[in-house]
Amino acid sequence: MASVWAELSRLGFQWKASDQLRGVEFGAGPASGACGIAAGEKYAPVGIPHTGNWALIEQDKAMLSLGSEWAQTYFKDTLAERGDWGIRPFHRTIDLKQGLLPRAAPKFNLWLSSYFINEFEESPEKMARILLKTWEDHLEEEGIVILVEPALKIQSRKLLAIRKALIEEANQSGKDWFKILLPCMGHQACGALASDTDWCHEEVSWWRPPYFKQIDQMAGLDRKTLPFSYLVITKSKRSREEILPALSGFSVQSRHRVVSPSHNEGKELEFFICSDEGKRKARYRPAEAQSRRANVYKEIERGDVLLGTELRGDVNSTRIDEIKKRG
Ligand SMILES: C[S@@+](CC[C@H](N)C(=O)[O-])C[C@H]1O[C@@H](n2cnc3c(N)ncnc32)[C@H](O)[C@@H]1O
Repeated sequence: MASVWAELSRLGFQWKASDQLRGVEFGAGPASGACGIAAGEKYAPVGIPHTGNWALIEQDKAMLSLGSEWAQTYFKDTLAERGDWGIRPFHRTIDLKQGLLPRAAPKFNLWLSSYFINEFEESPEKMARILLKTWEDHLEEEGIVILVEPALKIQSRKLLAIRKALIEEANQSGKDWFKILLPCMGHQACGALASDTDWCHEEVSWWRPPYFKQIDQMAGLDRKTLPFSYLVITKSKRSREEILPALSGFSVQSRHRVVSPSHNEGKELEFFICSDEGKRKARYRPAEAQSRRANVYKEIERGDVLLGTELRGDVNSTRIDEIKKRG
């Protein structure tokens, strides 16, 4: 959640919703999402209000009380004297037949769920209808939604299918406020869903605390990076370029997301990119002079946003001649 927040910050996003935080986290568990936002804002600020409340919704009572206590401690540590976020715990088992929120619930301006949506059996189309209806009623104008889900094939594809259904449903019902911001920077057909065996995920580095390393060793795992799938949505009539100013000045056709690791092929780097035109393999030869001039580093990593890209060749053999900026 912190890294998604940092990406918003990198792309120039600035908080425009009301000046009191009204956050909600669904299936909050130990308040991972809310704490992630606090961490994100500390290191990559977007101007989120430092006063307001978080509603934590969770079916497990013990976990909810642990999450509430932990969040209070963590908020104090991260936000310090800069602010004061209150916690309102709601012990509730969400039954989608009744909707995600009671009708009398207020509007929120920051909406999170992490590893929660895949707990439901509803079809992507049904889930999309429920989400859109709830956002229409309970998401403030300029509010932000961040959905984080596992990077595993089935769960990740479910999120991608929900994205597709959300776009279709929003188009059909004329919800012009609905805007997907990340990771796709648009409403194009999903490049990963185009193949039955593909999915889309991000991976971030983190500092593994010693106790985590010990658990990894015992479990025979190596969690040096954190993989996840995600979707960031906003309710706004502003253009994507206004919301994410780093994109402005670069045509939609010249914006690409790196969606795989990159590896060396001779002096070139090879990786997959995804854009308005779908997903394709691409090669890039970083030239020292160009790298320095355009502030493009030699390394290309999964998740990078490449702006002002000039492509050569077709989908089967694409070369990137130039990258003007990395987001
Ligand atoms: C995989 S955990 C994720 C916890 C936390 N969001 C995180 O990322 O660390 C899923 C959480 O959702 C809660 N949950 C699942 N179904 C729920 C429901 N129908 N209503 C409320 N909470 C639910 C579970 O109790 C659990 O805490």
